[in-house]
Amino acid sequence: MKPPLVVGNWKMHGTQNQAVALARDVRKGLRRSRKVQVVLTPPFTALAPVGKIVRGSSLCLAAQNIHWEEQGAFTGEISPEMLRELGCRFVIIGHSERRHIFGETDKTIARKLAACLRSGLRPILCVGETLEERIKGKTTRVITRQLRVALKGVVKGAIEKIEIAYEPVWAIGTGRNATPGQISRVHAMIRRRLKKLFGTRPAGQARILYGGSVRPENTGELASVEEVNGLLVGGASLKAKDFISIVAIFSRT
Ligand code: PGA
Repeated sequence: MKPPLVVGNWKMHGTQNQAVALARDVRKGLRRSRKVQVVLTPPFTALAPVGKIVRGSSLCLAAQNIHWEEQGAFTGEISPEMLRELGCRFVIIGHSERRHIFGETDKTIARKLAACLRSGLRPILCVGETLEERIKGKTTRVITRQLRVALKGVVKGAIEKIEIAYEPVWAIGTGRNATPGQISRVHAMIRRRLKKLFGTRPAGQARILYGGSVRPENTGELASVEEVNGLLVGGASLKAKDFISIVAIFSRT
């Protein structure tokens, strides 16, 4: 198995100067951390300067979104090549804010995922149920559909280049993380699904992250859940001290 992965998703926060200061602080604080792979995901406008800080360190750069075409008349969109040029290695795909606020569908997410793989970028595919879907007992059905559509057309070996993030929508930015029991059930279900689609050995290589109200205080508990191979951190990744603690706690667990 690859090392655990901790991703900081900065969302639409920070000017270039603020992003640079945050990236510098994280780099300084994580100098000796090698056990966990750490990824920073600044807004598009800060990718270039943060990319310079990340270069030559153990940190990796990621983008929060991507367009599936190489180029063309797509006002406001960013292509895979443009992201690679800036040093991105990962891209977050299908975050619940993209699905629910911007109307992204499983099909558009599948096209984005395929575009990442074509261009050598590693997709971090987010899946997760809303509170209503959980209450109605539809969690498995929803996540199975999200995985099936997004991963349709992905060839067997390519699953090793994909990261999955389980992010229950009701846990994002709410201060209410999912319980270890809820997480381990869903992660085990995702692993089974991947094995069915891609075979046991390749599917065993895909990291499954948990995201949703991750903080230093709950990291130890979350990191010790079976099948949690990393974390996707939103709010707490905007404070260098908290993010560094999360990585440190995870690497000790
Ligand atoms: P949060 O966000 O940590 O602020 O809940 C997680 C995410 O949206 O990836």
